[in-house]
Amino acid sequence: MSKVFKEENGDEWFFPDDAYILSETDSKGIILYANEIFCEIAGYKLEEIMGEPHNIVRHTDMPRIAFKGLWDDIQAKGFWTGIVKNMRKDRGYYWVHATVLRRIHSNGEVTYLSVRRTPNRDDVNSCITLYQELREAE
Ligand SMILES: Cc1cc2nc3c(=O)[nH]c(=O)nc-3n(C[C@H](O)[C@H](O)[C@H](O)COP(=O)(O)O)c2cc1C
Repeated sequence: MSKVFKEENGDEWFFPDDAYILSETDSKGIILYANEIFCEIAGYKLEEIMGEPHNIVRHTDMPRIAFKGLWDDIQAKGFWTGIVKNMRKDRGYYWVHATVLRRIHSNGEVTYLSVRRTPNRDDVNSCITLYQELREAE
């Protein structure tokens, strides 16, 4: 039984409030790991996304500057949090509240882990306006 669900007569998808959508990448953003709920909400099988760049779920409504901020912060501070609109394989979309963390392993390898929860609806509504303005300014 799938845990994700779709808005009636729309393209927006949702996941349970208590779910954690997880993925881990290498230092270049190549997907090394994703959990089951990640695959369900993004509409991919695990084998379709393993080894792919994380921009596989990038939505064209997202401004470039948001990801510049993400990469600058995780490299400089080891931490970033923000609201992201992602695109599914079937071109539907879903919003997440994401926290990305840098992991420095004992062998010196650097990976990044993203933990995503259901976003607050007011935050999503603010981001819809903000991201549209930022996109228009690009
Ligand atoms: C751990 C991690 C998780 C990421 N998660 C997402 C994500 O869910 N959606 C997304 O569009 N980009 C995500 N990114 C950023 C992408 O790597 C990429 O920078 C972004 O999609 C913009 O694509 P572009 O660099 O090709 O313009 C993530 C990066 C890291 C390191």
